Amino acid sequence: MRSFAPLAVRFLGVFLLALAQLLPIPANAGSDLASPMFGVTIPEGYRNWPVVASSHRTDKDEIRVILGNDIAMKAYRAGTLPFPDGSILAKLAWKRVKSAEFETAFVPGEPQRIEFMVKNAKKYASTGGWGFGRFVNGKPADETQHGTCFPCHQSLVKGNDFVFTRYAP
Ligand code: HEC
Repeated sequence: MRSFAPLAVRFLGVFLLALAQLLPIPANAGSDLASPMFGVTIPEGYRNWPVVASSHRTDKDEIRVILGNDIAMKAYRAGTLPFPDGSILAKLAWKRVKSAEFETAFVPGEPQRIEFMVKNAKKYASTGGWGFGRFVNGKPADETQHGTCFPCHQSLVKGNDFVFTRYAP
């Protein structure tokens, strides 16, 4: 009986390996969640990052909040430009809705999208050192949309390291 045990263990191993092949976890799972062109993914813990500023866009009727990771916040507070590698900026956008409890107040409604700019001067040399990522319902937007990011940021805020948002003290 004793000699069967290692064989059984080996069979179990082969069986588990075969089972793993059948599980619906594609090897490229990560890339499905990365933005086209830039390969930017949603950074872990971004929702806990400090606030750089808020904004309100009238044509889209949206409330936005811009956040920064530690490296970006340090640069903002020190007035460092260009932003150093590792800086990440996030922009969260919601529909602007009237407060249910207070007549003249507007508050965030349905979430619209989240966006990121990741600084890596070498990797993203052709787009000002920034990699862009836009996500709707957790899924990256298409390549057409990502083709618009840098041209707009470049045309209007080239002199501010391609970043619109100024630090709101
Ligand atoms: C037509 C112009 C335009 C396009 C296209 C555009 N942005 Fe922006 N972006 C802005 C403006 C204006 C702001 C300032 C904040 C705001 O709009 O609320 C901004 C802000 C940001 C910020 C916060 C940092 C900053 O620069 O203030 C991120 C992150 C961002 N955009 C990512 C993206 C991504 C990703 C794309 C492409 C999918 C994109 N943007 C396309 C105009 C644009």
